[in-house]
Amino acid sequence: MAKLAVLTVLLALFGSVSCQSSYGGSPTPTPNTPPPSIPSPPSSPPAATGLRVGYYNDKCPGAEAIVRDAVRVADAGVKAGLIRLFFHDCFVRGCDASVLLKPTDGNPQPEMLGIPNLTLRGFEVIDAAKSALESRCPGIVSCADIVAFAARDASYYLFSTTSSGGIVDFKMPAGRYDGTASLASETLPNLPPPFATAQRLKDMFAAKGLDAVDMVALSGAHSVGRAHCSSFSDRLVAPSSTSSSNDTASAMDPAFAAKLKGECASSSSSTNTVAQDYRTPDALDNQYYVNVLSRKALFGSDAALLGSDDTARLVHAAAASQWMWQVKFAEAMVKMGGVEVKTAADGEIRKTCGFVNMP
Ligand code: HEM
Repeated sequence: MAKLAVLTVLLALFGSVSCQSSYGGSPTPTPNTPPPSIPSPPSSPPAATGLRVGYYNDKCPGAEAIVRDAVRVADAGVKAGLIRLFFHDCFVRGCDASVLLKPTDGNPQPEMLGIPNLTLRGFEVIDAAKSALESRCPGIVSCADIVAFAARDASYYLFSTTSSGGIVDFKMPAGRYDGTASLASETLPNLPPPFATAQRLKDMFAAKGLDAVDMVALSGAHSVGRAHCSSFSDRLVAPSSTSSSNDTASAMDPAFAAKLKGECASSSSSTNTVAQDYRTPDALDNQYYVNVLSRKALFGSDAALLGSDDTARLVHAAAASQWMWQVKFAEAMVKMGGVEVKTAADGEIRKTCGFVNMP
C-alpha cells in the first residue's frame, strides 16, 4: 500500500517517466523529507539492449554480491571515482569496459590515456572484483558488467550517507560483453568538457540517447568526489567590466571563488584538488543542485545547467526534492548503462579487465 501511495505521488509530480516537461515543470518546494519507502525505478533498459536484471543468477550465483563487497570497503573518494568510471566507459564506445584497457605494444594509446581519463580512479576495485569472480566462475562475468554494478553499488553506499534522503537500492540490468578496441583519441570528442555550454551538453548526451532529464539527474554525481583545481581555475577570475551579462550571470559566487583560490593555492593540498560539494562532500545528494543555484558549483558546465530554460527547471526540481532526484538519478544510471552495449557477436568476456583475451 505504502509503495502504491508513493508511486501515485511520484506520477502526479513527474507525469510519465519519459515525459521531460513533467520533471521540469514548476518546482514544487516540497520538504526534503523522504517518503516511507522508495520504489526501485523501472529496471529494464531500452528493450534493444538485450540486458536483463538478474542475468548472473543462474550463470554465476552471488556475482553481484561479490562486486558489492569489493565496493563496500573502498573509501568515499574511490566510490565517487567508480561512478565517474561508468560514465566515462559508457560515453566512449558504449558500456564495454574499453576504459579499462591498458597500453600495450599493439595499442600504446588506449582510452585511459586520454586527457579526461587521466584523473579516473577505482580501477583496483574492478580488478579485485574480477579476480574474485574469476575464481568463483571463470570466463562468465564481463568487466563491463562489473563497472556497471560497481557504479550502482557506489551510489547505494554514498546515498546512504545523506542525512535526509531515502536510499534507492536500484537494480542494474546486465549481460554486457567487453569490447576489444580502445583509443585515447576518442575521449575528447565524446566526453563533455567542464566549460561546455547547456546546448553542447544537451547535444553530447543526446548523441548517447540521453535526454535533458537524464543529463541533469546524472550531473548530481558532482555532489561527491573531488576535482583538480585546473578543471575550474578559469572560473576563479571575477568577470571584468567588459564581460557580457551572460558571463556575469554564470560566474561563480565571488566569496566562494576566493575561498577556492585559497584552497588551491594552499601547499597542504598536495594533490591540488578540492571537494566537489563543499557542504556534504561524501553524500550523493541533491546539495549539488542547491550549489548550482547559489553559484557555488565548480565547473562552467555545472553553471551552464541554468543557461537554458528546460535544464534550469530541472535543477530547481531536483533541488526541491532529494528523494525524487534520487529516483531520477537511478533511472538515468540504468539508461546510461544501456548505451551501445556489445553482445557475443562483437565482444568477449575478458579474463583480465586490463587486457583483451589472447587469440
Ligand atoms: C555533464 C557533463 C560533465 C562534465 C563536463 C563533467 C566534468 C567533470 C570534471 C572536469 C571532473 C573533475 C575531474 C578532475 O579534475 O579530477 C568531474 C568529476 C566527477 N564527475 Fe563529472 N562531468 C560530467 C558529468 C558527469 C556524470 C554524468 C557523472 C556520473 C554519473 C559524473 C561523475 C563525476 C564524479 C563522481 C566526479 C568525481 C570523481 C572523483 O572524485 O574521482 N560526471 N567531472
